[in-house]
Amino acid sequence: MSNYHIKSLEEYFQVYRKSIREPENFWEEIAEEHFLWRKKWNKVLSWDFSKPEVKWFEGAKLNITENCIDRHLATRGEKTAIIFEPNNPEASAEHITYNQLHERVCRMANVLKNEGVEKGDRVCIYLPMIPELAIALLACARIGAIHSVVFAGFSATALSTRINDSDCKIVITSDGSYRGSKTIDLKGIVDEAMENCPGVKKVLVVKRINSDIQMNDGRDAWLQPLLDGASTECLAEVMNAEDHLFILYTSGSTGKPKGMVHSTAGYMVYSAYTFKNVFQYRENDVYWCTADIGWITGHSYIVYGPLANGATTLMFEGVPHHPDFGRFWDIVDKHKVNQFYTAPTAIRALAKQGAEIVEKYDLSSLKVLGTVGEPINEEAWHWYNENIGKKKSPIVDTWWQTETGGIMITPIPFVTPTKPTYATLPFIGIQPSLMDESGNELKGNQVEGRLCIKFPWPSMARTIWGNHQRYKDTYFSTFENNYFTGDGALRDEVGYYRITGRVDDVIIVSGHNLGTAPIEDAINEHPAVAESAIVGFPHDVKGSALYGFVTLNDAGETRVHDNLRKEINQIISERIGAIAKLDKIQFTNGLPKTRSGKIMRRILRKIAEKDTSNLGDTSTLLNPECVQDIIDNAL
Ligand code: PRX
Repeated sequence: MSNYHIKSLEEYFQVYRKSIREPENFWEEIAEEHFLWRKKWNKVLSWDFSKPEVKWFEGAKLNITENCIDRHLATRGEKTAIIFEPNNPEASAEHITYNQLHERVCRMANVLKNEGVEKGDRVCIYLPMIPELAIALLACARIGAIHSVVFAGFSATALSTRINDSDCKIVITSDGSYRGSKTIDLKGIVDEAMENCPGVKKVLVVKRINSDIQMNDGRDAWLQPLLDGASTECLAEVMNAEDHLFILYTSGSTGKPKGMVHSTAGYMVYSAYTFKNVFQYRENDVYWCTADIGWITGHSYIVYGPLANGATTLMFEGVPHHPDFGRFWDIVDKHKVNQFYTAPTAIRALAKQGAEIVEKYDLSSLKVLGTVGEPINEEAWHWYNENIGKKKSPIVDTWWQTETGGIMITPIPFVTPTKPTYATLPFIGIQPSLMDESGNELKGNQVEGRLCIKFPWPSMARTIWGNHQRYKDTYFSTFENNYFTGDGALRDEVGYYRITGRVDDVIIVSGHNLGTAPIEDAINEHPAVAESAIVGFPHDVKGSALYGFVTLNDAGETRVHDNLRKEINQIISERIGAIAKLDKIQFTNGLPKTRSGKIMRRILRKIAEKDTSNLGDTSTLLNPECVQDIIDNAL
């Protein structure tokens, strides 16, 4: 019998040891006993980090939607699979049973098939948080198409870049979306993106806000009539274990976004197994993750992980502050949510409003609280623990990444004693390592270094779409035989991990990963700008915010600087999205550079953090004189 559900610390250590000593036996038992296979594997694992190549459950055949839906129908057909809570608090929530989900996924899958989508084709999904979003993912998986969800807060340029990179031939979107008291013209954004996407032959449109939109003849079609006319049965395509399930883009520190590719069997096994344990999900619990499905958290822990366990998963369309800052707690109270998973930025924003608003609601259903996306500061951790968990619900601070597919370092609630700001212990099967800058592994406890993983796990991304070399260079070339995460971490005296933050040029703003280079490229497009450098600085709600140092072509630029600031942020919104706007823009006469011409961001970072007492060695600078000037004019 496998240890699918870990219930004590002793059991955790025993299972962890087994998963490290005999990883193949361990994962084989989990896979065999808890999932539905059309054919079993020939080999559990083969791997070579130098290529890099990793395969799990090779030879196996399956369809992930049979695991997420069909196999539950006999026993859980009338159980709610998805609770949809709309943006408008007055509108009623929708409860979609597993039977209904089956029917709706099959209809959508048939629509895609009728539109000529075949196994292996890429489908771009650009939708708000409405049931059709989850259904579209599953419909793709049903027919073996590869979904590429683009977060519906990204701009037309960001959308077209992603569509073209993975050569999507079809886009699923909506006429618009609700966001608190506002509406967003999603279809207009898609139309703009389409000007640069000649490969897209069809745009399927969900009617959500009933806005008056332009439908492009031949290209655009309303989805509902097609769904109504489609069959409610669709046989699941039989997939190979390593067939690609989805692509999800994540920012790199340089260059265009990276289309991380996840494959089917390993992702399914790991997302399901982590979900069960990290949230201690029990039958009839109501689980809510507040992330958007446009991010990996939503893929793994709104859709696949929960549904593979036959869980009830809540999808929320709105925002935490509409109609007021009590909305999250109102939803917890209304649906008697048992597990609640959110981001530190949301916790900080809600904590700012004080505890009185929380006290209006009954939160006694809560059993487990989760956090993800960025380091959680001690203050936010305690606020969450005291005001939301009433010191009774353990907080799981879950560290992981788009690339890892599932949670990697985390407490198991009621099992692992928690410690504020610590993600604590590696999950079952995960072998972290800490490296010094020269690539030596730091053994033992009380060490701090670069966080790597030295052994494959089932849900790791297999490649970057269309660029395996970049996958190798980014993740497997810094430290030999290790996957490098890009994060720094420390291991304390008992072996608990604390993530200290990114060690590359990725900045996490409100839980969103932003690469500095693409933002700088956008700014540099402004005709008045000569060059720019972006760094992060601490922000009490966003965690980090962006600080831009910008040198103009003409130092005597006559436009008022405030106007220039607006124009620069406007370009960033158009090229990337509003999430990447700068909080501060300082115009400088020059940027500190090394003799080889590289901008010394370390110095700029210190200035942005208002920590200029020790700027470190500036003797190698080409233009040390500009530093004092920047300090004197810092914002
Ligand atoms: O820096 C780490 C941070 O978020 C990065 C991954 O971002 P993304 O791929 O967008 O995935 C976010 C959701 C899984 C990591 O490299 N991060 C994520 N979780 C934590 C975290 N930093 C500290 N503590 C966490 N719990």
